[in-house]
Amino acid sequence: MACRIVVLISGSGSNLQALIDHLDPAHGQIVLVVSNRADAYGLQRAAKAGIETQVLDHNIYASREAFDQAMMARLDSYSPDLLILAGFMRILTPAFVNHYHGRLLNIHPSLLPKYKGLNTHQRALNAGEAEHGATVHFVTEELDGGPLIVQAPVPIVSGDTSATLAARVQQSEHLLYPQAMNWFASGRLRLIDNRACLDGKPVGPVGTRLENMETDMRGMTDV
Ligand code: GAR
Repeated sequence: MACRIVVLISGSGSNLQALIDHLDPAHGQIVLVVSNRADAYGLQRAAKAGIETQVLDHNIYASREAFDQAMMARLDSYSPDLLILAGFMRILTPAFVNHYHGRLLNIHPSLLPKYKGLNTHQRALNAGEAEHGATVHFVTEELDGGPLIVQAPVPIVSGDTSATLAARVQQSEHLLYPQAMNWFASGRLRLIDNRACLDGKPVGPVGTRLENMETDMRGMTDV
């Protein structure tokens, strides 16, 4: 049976677009896209692809807990096998994260465990890093701290600004995230004993590294 996927967004949804474009229909189906902002452009991308959308505005709930409970009720009515955070800019409560333990993925714009939190590109530049990148991980209670699945390094080049670096990191995100989604949807990727496992074997401590993603998509399906 196809993996039922729900994607949560807050903004542009360029990662959502990559997920839509690269989902292997033999294994999965995006059954719903949820945004906490009514003006998120990603909602239009979903609608264009014929995917059902819903808006849950966090501002109308009295607390973070109340919002997350409402989301859980809404999401569970779609029986999701996999929840994908794609630029969903809300901190989730432990109750939410634990409810979806092992079926909740996030993408973060850094080579975790470096640069958790915000402004990752500028912080990597300020630190004089030679490389930066993006990471897909399972979500746990620790912010940006769950078991790593896969990451793509992106070289920092002379003259890079936060904006130029962010643009290149996003290009790699658009390859990385569909890969992780398809691994999960096809049953190859699972969280076992709090470790991300691919084909039953734990990936390394920083996850699988996909090199040269900007220029080379070969190997995506058989890494
Ligand atoms: C992505 O670059 C993603 O890495 C980042 O938000 C952006 C969303 O872009 N996520 C975080 O910073 C989460 N901490 P998109 O809406 O175009 O996919």
